[in-house]
Amino acid sequence: MTILESIGSVRESFRADLDSFPTDQREIDLLRSKYFGRKGLLADLYILLSGLSNKEKPKAGQSINSLKKELQKEFDRKTASIAGPKHVTNDQLLDLSLPGYPITNGSIHPLQQTLDEIKGIFKSVGFKVAYGPEIEDDYHNFEALNIPKHHPARDMQDTFFVEDNVVLRTHTSNVQIHLMEEREPPLRYIVPGRVYRNEAVSYKSYCLFHQIEGLYVDKNVSMGDLKGILEYFVKRFFGESTTMRFRPSFFPFTEPSAEVDIWDEKREKWMEILGCGMVDPNVFDNVGYDSTVWHGYAFGMGIERMAMLKYGIDDIRLFYQNDVRFLEQF
Ligand code: PHE
Repeated sequence: MTILESIGSVRESFRADLDSFPTDQREIDLLRSKYFGRKGLLADLYILLSGLSNKEKPKAGQSINSLKKELQKEFDRKTASIAGPKHVTNDQLLDLSLPGYPITNGSIHPLQQTLDEIKGIFKSVGFKVAYGPEIEDDYHNFEALNIPKHHPARDMQDTFFVEDNVVLRTHTSNVQIHLMEEREPPLRYIVPGRVYRNEAVSYKSYCLFHQIEGLYVDKNVSMGDLKGILEYFVKRFFGESTTMRFRPSFFPFTEPSAEVDIWDEKREKWMEILGCGMVDPNVFDNVGYDSTVWHGYAFGMGIERMAMLKYGIDDIRLFYQNDVRFLEQF
């Protein structure tokens, strides 16, 4: 191979390396020494040059020198172009016309929205809001509500026990007792809160859920008033055209008792939404109200159940998973 051919092949190999130029700094350094290093390809050419006759030397020497300049220039240009930011000033990097990063907003949980709406409806017709304890003694959760020990009605609500006579409340009805113990009639309250039941978790039951209790005590309160307020509530919450029915039922702390169902268009069946009734005289006796003077009604509804029916949600567990894909729909 003549020296001119050797120069040509170094140029060709350099071109190929430029085409697949590395981005990694270590590989760039390797490539640099492959050509420009002490034992690099250009150095090899100078060794070849030294072996030439004096006649051949000047011309070949010029060719190698200009090859070296050429390679150096292209190598520098390439490294500059990939090094990018280092060679670019700050204001060239900042493109004010680009859209910003989207900021995701939090939103009010569907259960809270449902609760707020229910609260709003009852407040607008004169109910006040009260709260009570979630850890409760047996007396307030059961006994005072006319559910004696060993009464089969206790089986309706599988109970979490904290201690022998202390439970996680199984319903918000415990607050009926607190309110009447602490205040003189008349009373008109709703009581939102968390309740707990030791049930198998499924699409329709969870170990905790939320209820709203209603309690109205006054001198002339009738079953008609109870029906009136619940009808008014259902139409405002579910819509004017909602079909509902009162179905006779049993609760130890109300007499007579009923449950309210609404017709679910989607599932084509009656869905129970709440329990209610006239406060049992035994309950008034337990809190020291004179049941010949005072009458009252009470009701209790599950907030998850209301939200599920209103928004067509078919699994109660969705409320507790904090999955953004679910939550952002509300
Ligand atoms: N506490 C009952 C329940 O949890 C509901 C209810 C409340 C029924 C008030 C009547 C009156 O099922």
